Amino acid sequence: MKLSIAAAIGLLALTLTEAVKVSPLPIPTHIKWAKSGPIKVDNNFRITGTHHEILNKAYARTAKLIKKERWVPQIWEHPAPDFPEYPTFEKRGDYEEASYRHHNKKATLKTVKVSVRNLNADLQLGVDESYTLDITASGQGSIKAKTIWGALNGLQTLNQIITGDGRKGLQVEQPVEIRDSPKFSHRGIMFDTARNFIPIKALKRQIDGMSYTKLNMTKDAFSPREIYTQRDIINLVQYGRERGVRVYPEIDMPGHSSSGWLQVDAKAVTCADSWWDNDGWTHHTAVQPNPGQLDIAYEPTYKLIKNVYREVAKLFKDDFFHVGFDELHRFCYNYSTPSMDWFRANPQATYGDFAQLYLDKALPIFRDRRDRRLVMWEDVVTSADFAANKVPKDIVMQSWNKGLENIKTLTQQGYDVIVSSADFLYLDCGYGGWVSNDPRYNVMEPPVLPKAIQDAFDANPSDYQPTSFNFLGFGGSWCAPYKTWQRIYGYDFTKGLTKKEAKHVIGAESPLWAEQVDEHVLDYKVWPRAAALAENLWSGNRNAKGFKRITELTTRIYDFRERLLVREITAAPLTSKYCLKNPHNCDLHRNQTAWGK
Ligand SMILES: *[C@@H]1O[C@H](CO)[C@@H](O)[C@H](O)[C@H]1NC(C)=O
Ligand SMILES: *[C@@H]1O[C@H](CO)[C@@H](O)[C@H](O)[C@H]1NC(C)=O
Ligand SMILES: *[C@@H]1O[C@H](CO)[C@@H](O)[C@H](O)[C@H]1NC(C)=O
Repeated sequence: MKLSIAAAIGLLALTLTEAVKVSPLPIPTHIKWAKSGPIKVDNNFRITGTHHEILNKAYARTAKLIKKERWVPQIWEHPAPDFPEYPTFEKRGDYEEASYRHHNKKATLKTVKVSVRNLNADLQLGVDESYTLDITASGQGSIKAKTIWGALNGLQTLNQIITGDGRKGLQVEQPVEIRDSPKFSHRGIMFDTARNFIPIKALKRQIDGMSYTKLNMTKDAFSPREIYTQRDIINLVQYGRERGVRVYPEIDMPGHSSSGWLQVDAKAVTCADSWWDNDGWTHHTAVQPNPGQLDIAYEPTYKLIKNVYREVAKLFKDDFFHVGFDELHRFCYNYSTPSMDWFRANPQATYGDFAQLYLDKALPIFRDRRDRRLVMWEDVVTSADFAANKVPKDIVMQSWNKGLENIKTLTQQGYDVIVSSADFLYLDCGYGGWVSNDPRYNVMEPPVLPKAIQDAFDANPSDYQPTSFNFLGFGGSWCAPYKTWQRIYGYDFTKGLTKKEAKHVIGAESPLWAEQVDEHVLDYKVWPRAAALAENLWSGNRNAKGFKRITELTTRIYDFRERLLVREITAAPLTSKYCLKNPHNCDLHRNQTAWGK
């Protein structure tokens, strides 16, 4: 009896020392740890290999960060603990934290050799981003990639798997073999820099975070106000490029166009002086203040668009360029004499025809480069009242409405789609309203429901939640609730698509609209939630058995958040310290596959 207990304990200790604790995020598509024991990493550890300006900088940056951080994971994956049956009070099955410092004295990793086959492949859509990473039991390290951009991803993984050993040294926990490549090519975050100004320094921090998580696109929505200098932009694009992050711009036209445009040609902007709300939906001139749309029927508008487009386009190397078409409002045009004249001259015309007029005049301006790929908000195709009649199929649609339904509609019609469904991916939702003088907050009682509904709710409270604006309702944030990392990670945005349609989904972007965002809150609104999107896009949200791996991401993202803090990105805490320190003690369900397949 005694013997068998001892054996069981011995076995337990053995598994604890052998299990690898570090878990890079996003988790690589294939990662296989060996069992021969930790490898010491030399204090003079270096990364060398294929010479290239971008790579040389990345080698130095990565090695420096590894040595500076000596990251010791703050939490790691562990089976959910057992608890005694309610209500006995035995000591619960706490686990021992295994020591984090066992070197295999025989082998030391001194160098990781990077080799890149093709130094010419540019950072554009379609470039190969795969890499392999091997650390052998004898301490040989290598990263192999077809392109610079693949090598940068390999360096990020290397950065995450070399950890501090808890004393002053570094280690790799076990020999490892990684074969990795992303599932989706377009993996981004959209920063709105028009509604509030966000300094370049803060944007660079976001690019850092994106490169750590292998996100590779960022888009900035600009107004043509001269807030960033041209040098700022060129500098930002280069900063991203050195980290494998593409930066491309959006200029929203012809909607949401007021500040900036007005100063250049006030006549090109209509309804800028109107009251946006008009106390009734049928008289709205804009979905949000400040109102203003470019006048579609006013000829000089297109000269203005051309000038602004040319000026911005020359600063960006990327093939992608976003030309807006977000949320056009019909009644704004009632303030424009040229537009009303156009409707009078074309009495049969619809707003669809009017939108088409815009496309026919504006698109030729944007098609100035053969490799230019235009992106537009889906409204141009899906808007109930302002969709154009014939939108060229080579324009990439950014889908934000109606989740899976609109992704289906667009891919079915043959459009390539960037998924930005507001219900899952908007990072700005759930913070309440930002328009003032809103008396809907002035309600003290919860909603009174018809008796039958109240009875049904009393009978089964989990089934139905009575809500009103002020009570469990959306509370002034049109896209409430707040999108948690679990919601973002769990989003199966190709669900219900045929194989052919799914191929049209090129990736996703999480937008952060900036009515309530500036540099002071930027980091914590983006991080670490964007890491959940990053992994969903890089290696998916399911484990080898096909189950959604939410519980596996839990420890990974908790640890990653702590790591971001050390890297001076002030990421939000996702949970209490107790939950961070006790893996899975805070799960809502003990069943680790409760999310199903
Ligand atoms: C992002 O990665 C994918 C996959 O390797 C690649 O096809 C795509 O070109 C990359 N996108 C950017 C913007 O670099
Ligand atoms: C705005 O103009 C359109 C087109 O002439 C017209 O149909 C519509 O009734 C006008 N709307 C309002 C609120 O006056
Ligand atoms: C765990 O949840 C899954 C999904 O709901 C279910 O299929 C499975 O039976 C559950 N397992 C247990 C042990 O209850």
